[in-house]
Amino acid sequence: MKGIILAGGKATRLYPVTKGICKQLLPVYDKPMVYYPLSVLMLAGIKEILLISTAVDIPRFKQLLGNGKDLGLKLSFAVQKEPKGIAESFLIAEKFIGKDSVALILGDNIFYGHNMGEFLKNASTLTEGGVIFGYYVKDPQRYGVIEFDKCCNVISIEEKPKNPKSNFVVCGLYFYDNQVIKIARGLKPSKRGELEITDVNKVYLKKNKLKVNLLGRGYAWLDTGTHDALIDASIFIKTVEERQGLKIGCIEEIAYRSGYINKKQLEKLAKGINTDYGEYLKRVCLDEK
Ligand code: TTP
Repeated sequence: MKGIILAGGKATRLYPVTKGICKQLLPVYDKPMVYYPLSVLMLAGIKEILLISTAVDIPRFKQLLGNGKDLGLKLSFAVQKEPKGIAESFLIAEKFIGKDSVALILGDNIFYGHNMGEFLKNASTLTEGGVIFGYYVKDPQRYGVIEFDKCCNVISIEEKPKNPKSNFVVCGLYFYDNQVIKIARGLKPSKRGELEITDVNKVYLKKNKLKVNLLGRGYAWLDTGTHDALIDASIFIKTVEERQGLKIGCIEEIAYRSGYINKKQLEKLAKGINTDYGEYLKRVCLDEK
């Protein structure tokens, strides 16, 4: 399975901060935001990853992440000229996806919870159809809202409805078979001029090929699109990291513990970072995997 991180957009809700730099390079506590979605794909066992962003920001992501070799990954980059919708990713990534299945994660989404790795690895074994994740929120009208029948079967998904039919919404993490390219090709832009990911999900749903995994209340799904959400996410990460002395979304640690890199490689990565983050990596080097 291949992976895509969609990290473009305009981030207008974070102006003026994001007039000079894109949202996904801003810090969420002690690391750049993009580390969190990247760590999710890594935990799912995905090593070939395409990062999509704007032409201005791609060089900055390259500077931050390189070609991924240091992490045992194969990273490549592609430009989305205009934010024409999440589903446009599959058209931009068509060549990259090739004949594979694909996972897409939004560059401003943070997931945290027990057994996340297992959860993700299960989803990544998908050979047919789509797997998406649902989460209970208090403001569903901002998202794609999932409607269930009495037996908990999904009967509809509505994008940003005025009158949401439930509090369960679709998270920014999607796993699809290779049909997604064909489905994306067939989409028409919505009223707001975007190729909507909800329309992709509706096609899978209609074919009875969409599985919705609900993330229970023990999970955290945070997005970071507003000033308040951004600082809340930073406080959340800081609180858990300080309590446990363990980091969330530490891509070097995940690479090491997943066996993508060895101890020597991790030591080399730790050397260049003279902060608590670097100290943490040095401590991880002393651990057995
Ligand atoms: P949004 O938060 O919907 O959009 P945005 O980031 O541009 O922010 P704002 O509403 O403040 O203007 O996007 C969610 C994520 O998807 C975010 O990481 C940006 C990314 N995205 C793209 O890269 N391209 C797109 O065409 C869209 C719609 C989103």
